[in-house]
Amino acid sequence: MLILGLETSCDETAAAVLAGEKDNLTVLSSIVSSQVKLHAKWGGVVPNLAAREHLKNITPVIEAALKEAGITSRDIDLIAVTNGPGLIPALLVGTTAAKTLSYLWRTPLIGIHHIEGHIYANFIEDKIRVSTKSKISNPKQIQNSSIQFPILCLVVSGGHTQLVLMKKHLVYEIIGQTLDDAAGEAFDKVARILNLSYPGGPEIAKRATQSVEHEAQNAERKINTGSTLRDMRYAISLPRPMINSKNFNFSFSGLKTAVLYLVKKNEKLLGDKKFVAEVCREFQQAVCDVLVSKTISAAKKYNPKTILLAGGVSANSELRHQLGEKIKEGLKNTLYIMPDTCYSLDNAAMIAAAAYYRHKLAPDKKICKANWKKLETDANLELK
Ligand code: KG4
Ligand code: ZN
Repeated sequence: MLILGLETSCDETAAAVLAGEKDNLTVLSSIVSSQVKLHAKWGGVVPNLAAREHLKNITPVIEAALKEAGITSRDIDLIAVTNGPGLIPALLVGTTAAKTLSYLWRTPLIGIHHIEGHIYANFIEDKIRVSTKSKISNPKQIQNSSIQFPILCLVVSGGHTQLVLMKKHLVYEIIGQTLDDAAGEAFDKVARILNLSYPGGPEIAKRATQSVEHEAQNAERKINTGSTLRDMRYAISLPRPMINSKNFNFSFSGLKTAVLYLVKKNEKLLGDKKFVAEVCREFQQAVCDVLVSKTISAAKKYNPKTILLAGGVSANSELRHQLGEKIKEGLKNTLYIMPDTCYSLDNAAMIAAAAYYRHKLAPDKKICKANWKKLETDANLELK
């Protein structure tokens, strides 16, 4: 079946065409029109500006997705749209477009929870599937049918940080979540404190790498010259909030405040690239330490057969790598899957992927046909 996915919950206008056959999900097109530059000057997403841009972009983006897939509207079997959570003016553009097309094309419609979409990005065929099971030698060959339940998902996005247990498709138990800021939100806020641009995640990741490079250069200089130059000029140490708590909840707001106090005490150093890079490296490592440690503890308690990484922060290469290393070390029989980074960030292919399973497992498919008038948009939609 061919699914048209739409996503407008935040600052990306996205449309995609996905072909789903016997649980094999292939992306035929995935178009994302990002508003990042527009919102960067405000330091975050402005809801009404986002809605205005979505309105401008939604039709061209849908047309481009159909064109790139080489199909017409008549070929679409199902429309899938994010109907929450997110910014309501932004969401409404996507859901209104989807309802209109569903009515005009007489095509069934399904509403998808944004986080469900992030989780199902892991079921897209061209994802990177890294296996820690030695018997699977070519990770790309893993079929969706061999992804076994229970699945433990670490969801890390700009609005959510959750550990979600899935005993079967589309059934979610949230076993832990952030008590305050989400991980992505913490990246964005810390970037702002450090005068770095929005979105903060990629900026911090880039500076953190520079810090590691400085360290390597200094170490080399020490070896070459025998000088007594210190390896690092700034030995910064930040807290790892809740790392030893007995539950699977998270808290990132204290970590952000620790960076704020550090910067307030050392305001002049904000002009020193090495200082900023070192703060970025230590902050990123603190976030990774907490996320990895909690995921591994949860896995030890719930014994999942598969661990998935989902959400915008799953594009972070240190998190991808460090979680993989710990799984390899302590959970040898657990499959570890993460989406290709192009499907980590907001996109519509992931929404279509979730809709494939929602449609396949729907007890009454007639409901999808009537959804053009029934589908509701909910800024606080819950994952259930
Ligand atoms: O999932 P997403 O695209 O949107 C939401 O659903 O919120 O996630 C966006 C978040 C932003 O906070 C952004 O800073 C963060 O993901 N992010 C990253 C990286 N790329 C994006 N965080 C850390 N490292 C990255 N490479
Ligand atoms: Zn998202």
